[in-house]
Amino acid sequence: MTTAPESPSVPTPVGNRNGVSGAVTSEVPLLRLRGISKNFGAVQAMQNVDLDIYDGKVTALIGDNGAGKSTLIKTISGIWAPSSGHIYWNGEEVKIHTPRDASDLGIATVYQDLALCDNLDIVQNMYLGREETRLGLLDEIKMELAANQLLKDLAVSTVKSVRQLVGSLSGGQRQSVAVARAVMRESKLVILDEPTAALGVSQTAQVIELIRTLASRGIAVLVISHNLTDVFSVADRIAVMHLGTLVSSGPLSDYDTTSAVELITTGHTARATSSKTAAKKSTTK
Ligand SMILES: Nc1ncnc2c1ncn2[C@@H]1O[C@H](COP(=O)(O)OP(=O)(O)O)[C@@H](O)[C@H]1O
Ligand SMILES: [Mg+2]
Repeated sequence: MTTAPESPSVPTPVGNRNGVSGAVTSEVPLLRLRGISKNFGAVQAMQNVDLDIYDGKVTALIGDNGAGKSTLIKTISGIWAPSSGHIYWNGEEVKIHTPRDASDLGIATVYQDLALCDNLDIVQNMYLGREETRLGLLDEIKMELAANQLLKDLAVSTVKSVRQLVGSLSGGQRQSVAVARAVMRESKLVILDEPTAALGVSQTAQVIELIRTLASRGIAVLVISHNLTDVFSVADRIAVMHLGTLVSSGPLSDYDTTSAVELITTGHTARATSSKTAAKKSTTK
C-alpha cells in the first residue's frame, strides 16, 4: 500500500469529527478509511474514499451499478489491497491485504452468493472448516448447542431445527445462517452485500430485524443495498458512492429519499443537510 499525498498522516483524534453531526461526535470509529483508491490497470474503480464506520451502528452503502460499492467492501475484506490510502482500526493504522488480515481484525463479509453448502445442515455449515472436536471426534453436541444458542441470540426464530439441510431453507433463513456463521468468529464488523435483494416482504423484514439485532449487540454493520425503503428502515448512517467516489456520508437524519436518489444518480444534491456532503474535501485535511 502506498501513501496518497492528499491523505492525512494521522488518524483524527477523539472528539474531532469535523462536519459529522449525530450521536457519534466523540467516538473513535471502529474503521476509518482515508484516501483509499483502487485501480484495475487503467480503470479507477475507487478514488480517494474517506469513510468512518462505528460500533453498534448500521451504515448503508448505496450507489448505482458500477459506483464502486463492491470494490470498497472487497478492499475492506482483504480481497483487493488498495492502490493507495490508509486504513485505521480503532484508531491504529492497519494493512488489510488478505481475507485473513480482515478476519483477524474481526471483519466478516457475507457476499451475495452466501457460500453455503445446500447438502449440509445448519450446524455443519456454521462450523465448516472449524469444527469442534473432542477426543479426536467431532463434538456434535457442543456444536449443535452453540448453533442453537447463536440463532436464539440473534432472534432467528423461524428455523425449526439446526439439523435441517440448508438447501431446504427459505432465502431469509439462508441469509440468517450466513450471518450467524459470520458473527460466530467474534466479528466486530459485519459486511452484508445486498442481503435482501432476493427476498420477499416478510423475509426482508426478518433480515432487517437481524441486522438491528447485530447492531444492538455492539457490532458495526456495513450493508450494501439498492432498496431505499430497506435503507431508511435499517440504517443509522448512509454513505453514497457515485462513479468510484464517496460523495456523501452522514447520519440517516441528514437524508430523505429525494436527496438519496439525487446523490445516487448525479453525485450531488441541493437538499441534503449533511455538512459532510458539502464539506467533504475539507474534512480529509
Ligand atoms: N476486477 C476488476 N477488474 C477491472 N475492473 C473492475 C473490477 N472490479 C470492478 N471493476 C470496475 O470498477 C468499477 C466499480 O465496480 P463495482 O465496485 O463492482 O461497482 P458496484 O458494486 O457499485 O456495482 C466498475 O467500473 C467496474 O467495471
Ligand atoms: Mg457490486
